[in-house]
Amino acid sequence: MTPRPPTSESRARRRDRRVYTRAHPVLFALLAATRRRPSVRLGTTVLVHGTDAYRQVLTHVPLDRTAAGTTGGAARELSGAGLMFDQEGDHHRNTRRAVAQGLGGAGTERLRPVWRTVLNRHLAPLDAGRPVDLVPAAQELAGATVCALLGTGPGTDPTALAVAAGEAAAAAVRDHLPGPRRPGSARPAAAAAARLEALLATDDDDADDGLRAMLAVAAVNTTVAALPRAVARCADAGLWDQAADDRLRPSLVTELLRVTAPSPLLPRVAAADATADGCPVRAGDRLVLVARHAAGAHDIAPDARRPVAPAVSQLVFGAGPHACPGARLARAQLDDVLAALAPHRPVVVRARVDRRAALPGWRTLAVRAATAAEDR
Ligand code: HEM
Repeated sequence: MTPRPPTSESRARRRDRRVYTRAHPVLFALLAATRRRPSVRLGTTVLVHGTDAYRQVLTHVPLDRTAAGTTGGAARELSGAGLMFDQEGDHHRNTRRAVAQGLGGAGTERLRPVWRTVLNRHLAPLDAGRPVDLVPAAQELAGATVCALLGTGPGTDPTALAVAAGEAAAAAVRDHLPGPRRPGSARPAAAAAARLEALLATDDDDADDGLRAMLAVAAVNTTVAALPRAVARCADAGLWDQAADDRLRPSLVTELLRVTAPSPLLPRVAAADATADGCPVRAGDRLVLVARHAAGAHDIAPDARRPVAPAVSQLVFGAGPHACPGARLARAQLDDVLAALAPHRPVVVRARVDRRAALPGWRTLAVRAATAAEDR
């Protein structure tokens, strides 16, 4: 067996932390400094770090789902109202039912050949000892999956779709950063959303253009952030043996998504007075839900043999009635990526942070096979 290059959990953690510290150093320092307490009030903003407090806010605290600066508010400004994140009650249940159909077990299996084809093509250079950048691979994989999910026309370019979804999300985040809005800052966000909707256009008069755009943004940005980060963590921590084991891999997938927490902060606004794990919350308070800390991403190393409880690891997909309907799809995609890479035991050869993306992630994440082809 070829000796493995030196790897370590601390190196894996250090590299992954760069996606936060290079893009948002002040915010990361503030959250790290306050994380030992389940929740911390700073004026009318409450930082929620604790596992129970995070879960209770999402399941028991009434939330203003249309408030500016929240995910629901951003979704509305992106492409209109009725986009799941901003909905409540029956309206929400009906939209969710329609969306969930395409994302259940059968829906995921229908989409699987689409992303596997893209994956196999992108990873082929590893066989010849050449490096592969996993960011464009993740973009095309996510774009192609969304095209198939939403039934776009045959001419739709999956990578162009992924780039447009990335720009729409990044512009929406810039538009919602704390502090006074820069004049005209809403214009690029609206233009990016319009470009995305044009790419997703369909002949079906009943199709909801806004909902399609929101789904594309939700699916693409999380996937493009998640896959390269998870692979880098796996490679740096030397977890390819677990990735190669069909019985352990599902658990490794869950653990890697837990420690990378691709959607690390959920901005919400309280709609009424309440308490979350003993912390009083007042109507109108801005709540910053730190999924990364609630799921123990910062202090419990990933290990498929000793995974944390599912009730904790699944918090990176939210909780309660709005919990992510794409979780099954996201897990299946990472499972396939790890299974395809594991025989190569790849190492990271180049990594550059994407400072403009809506979610913390890599702009470049190149890997190369550590094992020679004849050893496999
Ligand atoms: C690793 C990948 C992903 C992560 C970490 C993630 C995370 C999340 C989180 C934290 C939420 C908010 C949950 C809450 O408020 O309780 C959410 C909601 C949502 N996600 Fe994902 N997501 C991922 C992939 C996807 C994919 C692939 C899709 C679609 C194909 C998707 C579609 C959605 C939708 C539509 C919602 C809104 C649900 C609602 O409001 O009812 N997500 N996701």
